[in-house]
This record gives sequence, C-alpha cells and structure tokens, in this order.
Amino acid sequence: MVNIRNIEKSEVKQVAHLEDLCFPENERASLKTISYRVSQAPELQLGLFAPTEHTTTLIGHLMATRTSSESVTVESMSKHKPTGNNIAIHSLSIHPAHRNRGYAKQLIKELQFRSGKTLSPKPRNMTLLAHKPLIPLYEEVGFKLMGESACKFGGDTWYDMIYEI
Ligand SMILES: CC(C)(COP(=O)(O)OP(=O)(O)OC[C@H]1O[C@@H](n2cnc3c(N)ncnc32)[C@H](O)[C@@H]1OP(=O)(O)O)[C@@H](O)C(=O)NCCC(=O)NCCS
Repeated sequence: MVNIRNIEKSEVKQVAHLEDLCFPENERASLKTISYRVSQAPELQLGLFAPTEHTTTLIGHLMATRTSSESVTVESMSKHKPTGNNIAIHSLSIHPAHRNRGYAKQLIKELQFRSGKTLSPKPRNMTLLAHKPLIPLYEEVGFKLMGESACKFGGDTWYDMIYEI
C-alpha cells in the first residue's frame, strides 16, 4: 500500500535521484531547486512512498510552487510566491518500475484535494506544462487544454493546461 505525504528536507537527494531517472538533463530540477521548493513551499511537495522491509522508499513525487502568473513560467519553477493565486506544477515523476498503476493521477488528485481544503489563501487555479502525449492523462484528472505555451523551457514545445480549484 503506497502512502502520500509531504517531502522532508532530509529526502531532497532521493527526489533528485528520481528526477535524474525520469527526465532528460534539460528538463530535470537541480538539487538546489528541489531544496528551495522543499524549504519554501513544503506543503506543495508531495512524495509517494512504497513500503520496503524496514522503511519506505520514494517511488514518485510531485513538485509545485505558488505563482501569480496564469500559466507556468520558467521564473515560477525556482520562485515561490506564497500569496500567488495559482499553483504551478513543475514535476510529476514515477519510478519506471512502478508506472501505469494510477500513481501519477493519485498524486495530482491528492494535491487537488489539499488545494481545495487545506491551503491558505485558497488558490484559484492549478496550472502545468504538458508534452503533447500526456495531455489525455491530465484531462482525465480535470485539466483543460489552453493551447501551445509561450514557455519554451528546455527548448521544447509545451501545452498550457489548467484546473480550476
Ligand atoms: C508521466 C508519468 C508521471 C505517468 O506516471 P504513471 O504513474 O505511470 O501514470 P498513471 O498510471 O497515473 O497514468 C497512466 C496513464 O498515462 C498514460 N501515459 C503515461 N505516460 C505516457 C506517455 N509517455 N505517453 C502517452 N501516454 C502516457 C498511460 O497510457 C495511462 O493512460 P490510461 O490511464 O488511459 O491507461 C511517468 O510515466 C513518468 O514519470 N514519466 C517521466 C517523467 C514525465 O514525463 N513526467 C510528466 C511531465 S512533468
């Protein structure tokens, strides 16, 4: 049985390791960026943990920040604005050995639940940048496609998606 909880400062290296496994170099978050997010916005960094014999292991994560921008910008990736109206999702990663079990959707749904119930001030929207093949995954959890993004993070083409909280 997996468990979702906030990532702790002592776990940033595990998160960085999972980023390395899941993303090409031009798209992954650095240890510095991960540490910043965990220290400035711990409530928006979710880890998915699987039980092992004596402990639990991080097998997935979702990282986000608050922003006043209506879509994800490169600036929002390394800058958390605590009073920003919107939540920008920057990373969703599931260890390759644990994919296609609904864990990515579980992480998003957990953040959607927490955003509506426990975050203060209550955010208005959740935004993300998607690669084209993943648009249906995000639509399944309520995101709407807004079109091609002006953001060219990592030199790629991205699509803006938004979820109303
Ligand atoms: C994308 C990712 C997070 C999905 O994790 P997951 O736990 O396997 O996803 P879920 O089990 O919740 O959902 C699986 C669904 O997504 C679809 N999907 C996953 N990866 C896909 C891909 N690369 N292309 C097309 N569809 C994909 C599956 O076909 C499946 O569809 P279904 O629900 O209609 O059967 C995981 O593959 C990953 O970590 N990839 C590398 C990092 C990445 O690209 N992250 C997203 C951008 S931030």
